Amino acid sequence: MDTEKFYSKLGAGYQPGVLTTVVLAAEELKRQGKKIIGLTGGMYDEESFPWREVKEIFAEATEADWRVMLQYGGTRGYQPLREELSKWMKGHGINVDPYKELMVTTGSQEALDLMARIFLDPGDVIIVGSPTYLSALTAFQTSDPDIREAKLDKDGMIPEELEKVVKQVVSEGKMVKFVYIIPSFQNPMSSMMTMERRKKIIELANKYDFLILEDNPYGYISFEGPMPTPLKGLDTEGRVCLLYTSPSPRDLSTSRMPSSA
Ligand SMILES: Cc1ncc(COP(=O)(O)O)c(C=O)c1O
Repeated sequence: MDTEKFYSKLGAGYQPGVLTTVVLAAEELKRQGKKIIGLTGGMYDEESFPWREVKEIFAEATEADWRVMLQYGGTRGYQPLREELSKWMKGHGINVDPYKELMVTTGSQEALDLMARIFLDPGDVIIVGSPTYLSALTAFQTSDPDIREAKLDKDGMIPEELEKVVKQVVSEGKMVKFVYIIPSFQNPMSSMMTMERRKKIIELANKYDFLILEDNPYGYISFEGPMPTPLKGLDTEGRVCLLYTSPSPRDLSTSRMPSSA
């Protein structure tokens, strides 16, 4: 049966993302028995999975725990987990109220999708780094925004370039809804935003009145030195929405304090 005629405009517009296409192609090659090292999707080395720890945690769960785990939960996520996450974030210089300001999602990708739905109407202006994470664009594009770009170099998004783009938007009588930034180990450039730029970008957000969507999937797995303070840790006006990806128990147990530099 042809179900496509029943699609909404939004549904009809959904196409497999670029990443889905390349990951599927890599899986197909594996199925054919070809030995490949896939560098397209951010796949983990299976050897690094903390499966023993996860097994132990499950073995420790009591009947009372299972009754909670298998039941429906609140849409913001399991409250004791939110409380633990807020303590963990404190170690990164970030104070959030676990009851009002923290939500557990299925990875950062779900949060990107939610941000687009909550903040964007068609034609709204957002600014992203050039280049940026492809699947963030896929999430934003479902809301049909006007996407502008600000250049990056090895030290992250260039504040002067960002300001130029913001001024241009303002001169058109429009507002910038949010700027999407990956400050630490940016995807795809791997750039690390300097502390000076982090401060400058917060100043620009306050001056020109825009929100920042900070994506930080990799900052806390820094191999050399501590994670630099996320933009959220410098935010005095509540303008930054910070996304983390799911840390493994190992990341949590070894998470390091942010640098104060
Ligand atoms: C910059 C960036 N944000 C978000 C994601 C998605 O994260 P998650 O697996 O938590 O959905 C990725 C994954 O590659 C990423 O590189």
